[in-house]
Amino acid sequence: GTLAVKKKLIIMGRSGAGKTSMRSLIFSNYTANDTRRLGATIDVEHSTVQFMGDLNLNIWDCGGQNKYLDNYLNEQKENIFGNVEVLIYVFDLETTSRESENHLYDECLESLSRYSRDAKVYCLVHKMDKISDVKQKEQTIDNYRRALARRSELFKPEVFGTSIWDHTLYFAWSQIVYKLVPNMATIESHLNNFRRLTEASEVILFERATFLLVCHTTNNPKVVLNKYMSISQCVKMYRNTCSQVQLPFQSVEIRNKHYTMFIEPFTKSTYIMVITTDNEVEPALTKANIEAACKHFS
Ligand code: GTP
Repeated sequence: GTLAVKKKLIIMGRSGAGKTSMRSLIFSNYTANDTRRLGATIDVEHSTVQFMGDLNLNIWDCGGQNKYLDNYLNEQKENIFGNVEVLIYVFDLETTSRESENHLYDECLESLSRYSRDAKVYCLVHKMDKISDVKQKEQTIDNYRRALARRSELFKPEVFGTSIWDHTLYFAWSQIVYKLVPNMATIESHLNNFRRLTEASEVILFERATFLLVCHTTNNPKVVLNKYMSISQCVKMYRNTCSQVQLPFQSVEIRNKHYTMFIEPFTKSTYIMVITTDNEVEPALTKANIEAACKHFS
């Protein structure tokens, strides 16, 4: 095997924006309800997460109370903003002051430009569940997207609307994390070959612990990524429930007259999902193929 790559990811934003909530949902099997019990983060909470075998995510969850922010932007500047691979800035949709929020954001990017010019910046417009109208949701994200593009020419942030209550959180975090995995191109081409050989219509890899989507291949150009993100969310909730009632989660299998779908443990760090629409393909054969391919991928 190759040596693990360590990458530093910092999460910033005002107190109460939802930083620890999202981290706990994605990386610690919290449910959305569990997050109501979270207290304010004291200073910076560090964690290291192994992802896809050879990526070590070094996550800095930076508590957002003013006394800490002040410290990050002054005495701790170099320590916080140095060696950053990814900055995730969380905007609380219900902020009382866009102006002071913008000011803080500018200051963070200013420090980042000084110590980590090559970092990638993601902005999450968070708590989107507070808006129910779909049109209005889109308008809000667009609005942020335009405003943020004007503010930060150096970093060209990607903007996502997110909520801990639906798949949007998985969507954003999948996009953020999969780009950090080394050798993704190789994994993708293996997966593509596997799909063709097995005559499956869709093959998807999920990271084992987080259930974030890391790779997908399909023969259907109309497939929407959101479908997979909803599956991420569903399976993770299902697995949490299994563990609460002490039933081990193994795999998922759905068969109907349109398709067969398997979700099976694959390599040490992944689950694979295989969808077959061709009735001629025997499910038992697909399962055997999954097992055979597993050795190839490990
Ligand atoms: P600090 O640690 O002080 O910086 O705060 P934080 O940004 O880590 O906020 P935290 O994750 O503790 O969340 C604050 C509150 O927001 C919690 O009660 C969460 O349940 C709630 N919350 C988090 N995400 C969402 C969301 O997507 N929608 C809604 N409605 N509430 C959310």
